Amino acid sequence: MKIYSKILIAGFILIYGCTNMAPETIDVNQEQDGCTPQFPEMKVTYNNYVKNVIARYCINCHQGGNSSGPGNFTTYNGVRLYTDFFALRVIQDRADMPQGNAPLPKSVRDSLNIWIRNCSPEN
Ligand code: HEC
Repeated sequence: MKIYSKILIAGFILIYGCTNMAPETIDVNQEQDGCTPQFPEMKVTYNNYVKNVIARYCINCHQGGNSSGPGNFTTYNGVRLYTDFFALRVIQDRADMPQGNAPLPKSVRDSLNIWIRNCSPEN
């Protein structure tokens, strides 16, 4: 068999396989980016928890304008743009945020971790 037909067949299998894997219904808890909540029984949300943590520990440096830190953490969407960096910068034991201070209390970091692993729900 010529190499081209092999590639063609492989391509068909790939496309067919992927189409077949798509779920038929989308879970309401699932965010649009395809994230699946890992602790669905734990309800840590932006509005019931994360907002207050950020307001207390982060906003003074992360509020846009002339503040020293990047981003604007005063809104849900503003925070969401940075959640990919939280594991390294905020949640791990040697996290360096809040800048110039010790990492957040372990229980707070654990809750932030659950929030992010649950696809960072707003409500
Ligand atoms: C005293 C000021 C200050 C405080 C308080 C602070 N930050 Fe920062 N933060 C910075 C600065 C400045 C940077 C950019 C320099 C750097 O990356 O170290 C930064 C960077 C970051 C980054 C990386 C952004 C990127 O684009 O890589 C994240 C995530 C972050 N901060 C989250 C937080 C969170 C969450 C809190 C609260 C728990 C917080 N910060 C508290 C000043 C601060």
